[in-house]
Amino acid sequence: MRGLNSILELRVDELDQLIATAKDIIAHPENYWNRCAHKKLATLFFEPSTRTRLSFEAAMLELGGSVLGFSEAASSSASKGESVADTAKIVSCYADIIAMRHPKEGAPFVAAQAASIPVINAGDGGHNHPTQTLADLLTISRELGRLNDLTIGLCGDLKYGRTVHSLIEAMSRYPGVKFVLISPKELKIPGFIRYNVLEPHHIPYKEVSSLEEAIPELDVLYMTRIQRERFEDPWEYQRLRDTYVLDVEKMKLAKEIMCVLHPLPRVNEISVKVDADPRAAYFRQALNGKYMRMALILKLLDEAEKNPQPHLMNEMELEYDRVCHNPKCISQVEQELPQLFRCTDKAADIHRCVYCDQRG
Ligand code: CP
Repeated sequence: MRGLNSILELRVDELDQLIATAKDIIAHPENYWNRCAHKKLATLFFEPSTRTRLSFEAAMLELGGSVLGFSEAASSSASKGESVADTAKIVSCYADIIAMRHPKEGAPFVAAQAASIPVINAGDGGHNHPTQTLADLLTISRELGRLNDLTIGLCGDLKYGRTVHSLIEAMSRYPGVKFVLISPKELKIPGFIRYNVLEPHHIPYKEVSSLEEAIPELDVLYMTRIQRERFEDPWEYQRLRDTYVLDVEKMKLAKEIMCVLHPLPRVNEISVKVDADPRAAYFRQALNGKYMRMALILKLLDEAEKNPQPHLMNEMELEYDRVCHNPKCISQVEQELPQLFRCTDKAADIHRCVYCDQRG
């Protein structure tokens, strides 16, 4: 029995199969109306959401299942100090599958270790957002007809942008993919993506600061919001918030066949005038999220039925003698969690926290 914490837990053939299922759902929705009858999805959202929570709920309802849950920590017993692990154990008594969003990095991973049902990471702090990536993959596939041989520009907050991290992890495994990383120097891609994904797999990438200069070569432009909620210093946010604005003038520099994605919500980084451009795919992307979440729920519930054994960490790989210094890591808040590290590069002696991927 497994859930989904990181997109890397799905092999490329499994990603392709999920995309195929989602396309079949789009073509023949009536074949899926009853597939999750009597099954319950719990949406445990400790952080705000519109698309992810509602598309998960719509997905389960369209599969004939039911939903329960909460949309803010204040209305759960987390506000009384209940741990993520205890919450997951309790919800396992009431539901068949969990989708969890949490501001602390690694919280859904902790829940998965404690739950007896599959747990899906619906976004953990500035770390990962694997189901957004599923939406992104289906969108690229539907808009451009392929997932290989693409130049993908990612623009904005690449440091805290969890959707960016998961998308790079996924697309790095398709042949012929190149990345153009467009950000101010303060918001460059973090080490766990650079040194665990891009460098060891020799993925071509370059880092630039100008959107205008980068846009002509792109097949996909993935815009992101500079996220106020991730900054400790509000002045730093104010200084960086308007760094990139995609407008009609910049779209004139882009290829005729390309697509603009954005996980949304947007603030002002895409002018609303761009919405009318046929290359603007971000609202179609939000709809695709529902179909891919339907495909994922079906897959995980099917697997859980066939193999109900918990999918736990391999303890042989773990090291206990280091400390995580990331204030956004769940291990910093829930003091009883053990500090756990895994060696990710023996030659360079690099060890990363199993919850948040920061170096120890
Ligand atoms: N893309 C995304 O995660 O949106 P929400 O925050 O509205 O769920």
